[in-house]
Amino acid sequence: MVFIFMNIMDLLWVQGTCINAVISFQKHFQAQESDVILATYPKSGTTWLKALTFTIMNRSRFELQNSPLHTTTLHQLVPFLEFDLYLNHQSPNLECFSAPRIFATHVPHALLPGSILNSSCRIVYVCRNPLDQFISEWLFIARTQDKEPSDLAEAFERACNGIQFFGPIWEHALCYWKASIEQPDKIFFLKYEDLKEDIASCINRLADFLGCPLSEEEVTQGVVEEISKLCSFDYIKNLEVTKTGRAYANGVKNSHYLRKGEVGDWKNYLTPSMSERLEKIIEEKLAGSVTKS
Ligand code: A3P
Repeated sequence: MVFIFMNIMDLLWVQGTCINAVISFQKHFQAQESDVILATYPKSGTTWLKALTFTIMNRSRFELQNSPLHTTTLHQLVPFLEFDLYLNHQSPNLECFSAPRIFATHVPHALLPGSILNSSCRIVYVCRNPLDQFISEWLFIARTQDKEPSDLAEAFERACNGIQFFGPIWEHALCYWKASIEQPDKIFFLKYEDLKEDIASCINRLADFLGCPLSEEEVTQGVVEEISKLCSFDYIKNLEVTKTGRAYANGVKNSHYLRKGEVGDWKNYLTPSMSERLEKIIEEKLAGSVTKS
């Protein structure tokens, strides 16, 4: 499969095959007040965020040991708006999703439908160190194509020019970051590295933001640790549904979404001059904003 990148409205680069889906989603999606939209840059921890959000929001509906997460593809529980739902439909039937609905998207903030921006539905954004994101994406593409990774230098050159799915990454993260500062009750901004460093605190903050905070009783009973374990890399990677299932609609295997789940794996691939170059670009583009801890 060859990916043709196209530039929409000087805003972002997308895979040619999903332009119509992005446009249909943007034109037709009607958000409900109770919706939660998980907005991420690809390969930044979307799958992890789907597991955490689904589990936190549904913990009074399903006991954790009976969570559908044990048996159902995460990408079915929390589908992508542009890849799954709007890929071949201008108006997909969303009636099977009961409120509060949780959807995912990689679409940048500037292209979100008005009904998301203007309603009181909530957005959770997760971003990741662009060096790790780049390596994760480069290897993901190879895995999904069952091929050796493409030429690293070429892929890296494109990434430095912002030419990646839904790139440039710095525009994507910066717009969501600014919106999260302006509307902290609407947009919750998370970093993959923070999830790795202190998952318990992130679960608590996420639950607060989503309007379903953990009670003192739940904290005492160890519910935070249980959520963390249920959504952990090792646990999800070893589920039968991950080993054998395929992500809804696009046919990619569930196992492709879980590789190593580490911070700093880029060091095993990028030369010092490559990392310095990309770090410099990121620093210039994001200085004083997203990169602040
Ligand atoms: P690596 O390729 O660095 O391992 P996305 O879900 O946005 O496609 O991102 C995929 C990246 O998140 C992959 O990174 C994957 O291994 C990691 N990931 C997926 N699930 C995870 C989890 N539960 N915990 C930590 N990392 C996870």
